[in-house]
Amino acid sequence: MANFTHNWNYPQLIAHRGAGKLAPENTLSAIRLGAANGFSMMEFDVKLSQDGVPILLHDDDVDRTSNHQGPASDYTYAQLAELDFGAWHSSAYAGEPIASLYSIAHYTIANQIHSNIEIKPSAGREAETGQRIALLAQQLWQAAALPPLLSSFSESSLAAAKQAAPDMPRALLIEAELPSNWQDKLEELGCIGLNVNTRYLTQAQARAIKLAGYTVCVWTVNEAERVRELLDWGCDAIITDRITTIRPDSF
Ligand code: G3P
Ligand code: MG
Repeated sequence: MANFTHNWNYPQLIAHRGAGKLAPENTLSAIRLGAANGFSMMEFDVKLSQDGVPILLHDDDVDRTSNHQGPASDYTYAQLAELDFGAWHSSAYAGEPIASLYSIAHYTIANQIHSNIEIKPSAGREAETGQRIALLAQQLWQAAALPPLLSSFSESSLAAAKQAAPDMPRALLIEAELPSNWQDKLEELGCIGLNVNTRYLTQAQARAIKLAGYTVCVWTVNEAERVRELLDWGCDAIITDRITTIRPDSF
């Protein structure tokens, strides 16, 4: 049992990668579109360029979401700035630059948008990425109403984030089935709760997590009926791609 209950201080609905699939994922344009659709919290993925600049990118490599190929960690930030991160999506977004954590911090804080920073390290850089992002997020969001929620599948990243900036809220991401020792992991990593995959979560698990005093955020939920069911189960928040049909004002 946790010593106290962790409250979810963030909105109930969160736009996945900024605007789901309606704009090039993990870009400033995507976050603007999510905001224009009424979302006041965004989830986005962050890793480090070769030279240690935090960039928004889901995959290990740039192949799917840019006009070049290769591991993101082989590119310096200046080299990434030469690439097009929008044309793969549609011609309307051609020329979209790589987003850095700096520009996203400026936009979201200026527009009262909350952030869920998913720390998604390149292989072998887990601790470095967790430490760097936690420290930088703490500094960049100093004047924000709420600090960003840091989440990760990587326990090494979360442990490094905890050591670097213990007061920044953290959540452990679970890819598939809930491990039996989830509570031990949350205590060890000092997390407020779990961000779990909708495909695996049961009502009994949701109840157990809440009863233990932790938060439950569920990803990626793209059917309105499932959103209602999860909220009825007591889940705190939902991450969705469907920013035009699953609207914050209808739940
Ligand atoms: O943070 C929730 C979700 O984004 C995790 O999966 O692969 O979309 O980053 P993925
Ligand atoms: Mg993500």
